[in-house]
Amino acid sequence: MKKRFLLLGLLSASFLFLHAQQNAMIRPGEIWKDIDGNPINAHGGGVLFHNNTYYWFGEIKKGKTWRVPGVTSWEDYRVDASGISCYSSKDLLHWKYEGIALSPDKKNSTSDIHYTKVIERPKVIYNDKTKKFVMWMHIDKDDYGYAHAGVAISDKPEGPYRYLGSEQPNGQMSRDMTLFKDDDGKAYHIYSSESNQTMHICLLSDDYLKPTATYKRILVNANREAPALFKYKGKYYLITSLCTGWDPNKALYAEADHPLGEWKQLDNPCVGPDADITYHAQSTYVLPVEGKNNSFIFMADRWNKTDLEDSRYIWLPLVFKDNKPVIEWKDQWTPAK
Ligand code: GAL
Repeated sequence: MKKRFLLLGLLSASFLFLHAQQNAMIRPGEIWKDIDGNPINAHGGGVLFHNNTYYWFGEIKKGKTWRVPGVTSWEDYRVDASGISCYSSKDLLHWKYEGIALSPDKKNSTSDIHYTKVIERPKVIYNDKTKKFVMWMHIDKDDYGYAHAGVAISDKPEGPYRYLGSEQPNGQMSRDMTLFKDDDGKAYHIYSSESNQTMHICLLSDDYLKPTATYKRILVNANREAPALFKYKGKYYLITSLCTGWDPNKALYAEADHPLGEWKQLDNPCVGPDADITYHAQSTYVLPVEGKNNSFIFMADRWNKTDLEDSRYIWLPLVFKDNKPVIEWKDQWTPAK
């Protein structure tokens, strides 16, 4: 009897070991499962590092994809808005589902976060003064004619987040967006504005809940979206894509000495095969690997426009070579430990 228990124990231990091994590398473009074995559903996402834990927030893309009738000038494929998910991890490989961080409104069709609306590209930062976690996101109507930025707040990183409302910062359109919190505690909201022709970067209020009147037009008339801003050795870098809907295109990075400074559009950070279409993906975030110098993760979405739920994550190492950010394709890899 004892022997049988020992055998069972050994078998289940090796099963758990193998299961853990399967996740022990990042495999860009493959289905990525959480530690419960369910595909991670966190698109257009961003990552917060807090108390030695990474929190990955993203759009929940669930159910049937359809094309919005009446929108003919571009391929407006969409799913019902299912809210924002949160996953946590210590090692960037094994992710635990923390639940829905921001739930959609199922009843009030006039609500910004009603399931018939668009809730995209959520990003979360922590405010050291108010001790609140602040989420910003792109809020839109199904034809993307609303172009607002929404804000939600929580006491805990994983949520639940309470939706506070949305606006057009300084009366300007806001679509694809990201947040950047600088070392001095100042935070910035970066968004495609002016009908996606020009980006804006706006200093947020001290509590991060409102835009201030301090903003700058950048990448003027360059038609950029999918912004991902990060800092390395005192300089600021902004990776963006061109505006081609769900279809991939060539990424570019820009460089500046200050978030509100002069942004110089430079080059494609991606190299090698399919670099001109960002390895069939679109930027969403650049995550500095905590405690590692010159080690970043380029996070992108490989959208499947006719089945958005099956969109995949392209996470690749980004390193600086000759003072330039460089991203190279890897079938599988492990972040620096
Ligand atoms: C992309 C944008 C996505 C989503 C999509 C809708 O250009 O980056 O976040 O809004 O358009 O077609």
